Amino acid sequence: MIQITNPNELQEYRNYIQESVGFVPTMGALHEGHISLIKRSIKENSKTIVSIFVNPTQFLPGEDLDAYPRKIESDIKICELAGVDCLFMPTIDTIYTKDELAIKAPSIKGYILEGYNRPGHFDGVLQIVLKLLNLTKPTHAYFGKKDAQQLFLIQNMVKQLYLSTNIVPCEIIRESDGLALSSRNVYLSNTERKDALLLSKSLKKATKLIIEGERECQKIQHQMMEILSPTAVEYVQIVDRDFNYLEEVLIDNSIILVAARVGKTRLIDNMWV
Ligand code: PAJ
Repeated sequence: MIQITNPNELQEYRNYIQESVGFVPTMGALHEGHISLIKRSIKENSKTIVSIFVNPTQFLPGEDLDAYPRKIESDIKICELAGVDCLFMPTIDTIYTKDELAIKAPSIKGYILEGYNRPGHFDGVLQIVLKLLNLTKPTHAYFGKKDAQQLFLIQNMVKQLYLSTNIVPCEIIRESDGLALSSRNVYLSNTERKDALLLSKSLKKATKLIIEGERECQKIQHQMMEILSPTAVEYVQIVDRDFNYLEEVLIDNSIILVAARVGKTRLIDNMWV
């Protein structure tokens, strides 16, 4: 596995590859969720590039940028064992200049839900993802459905800017009890972890209601809120796959989203129905 920290070196590496390239951008502290994306990329492409970069521009002041888990040694081993061809780990100074051009997420879809609670977050996500896609020029880039709004905004960017990468949505990987894997789960104490489970429980309840025939979003949201009451809910919302709010669930075109704080930890989860 080649390890690269300099963006220009990555470009050079990329330009030598004639075959298909799969790309998996991450912020490290790799878990089975990330690994599932990496394995899929390795299966579907001749070469796989993974990036690890805790991107400061997507953290708001007061968020957990400094505390964000960093496990670079074990991450390198995980990538090596998985069969990654190239691991890109830029430093802030090599990938950002002092006077950066601004990239702004769409003013509606980038500023609702996650974007409302974390204003400017998606500007930073799109800024780094655009840089990374331009550096790696992947045939396929792999993103988790766990970050559904991020996935949507990246697909939207690729379309609007006519980038030639195919964005591949990947299923959410969960613990056996339903908790969606997240690098931030390490922040949870044993008792907080029990409350964290309420996110997936509320989504399971929503799915059950829908299977039983319920379509009214308000009623579903209300029942989810009840389950989530021990947590500090930021939003429970049902949207279509283009992130328009729904009044009625559309089968095969809905995403049920939840964001809540458990103690100091902010968690998100969702279910595609
Ligand atoms: P990060 O949180 O490290 O996630 C990297 C990728 O892993 C994202 O596409 C995310 O959706 C996916 N992922 C995380 N948990 C998952 C799970 N439980 N199941 C499946 N996929 C999961 O998302 C980011 O980093 C950053 O915003 C990034 C895109 C790298 C830009 O900085």
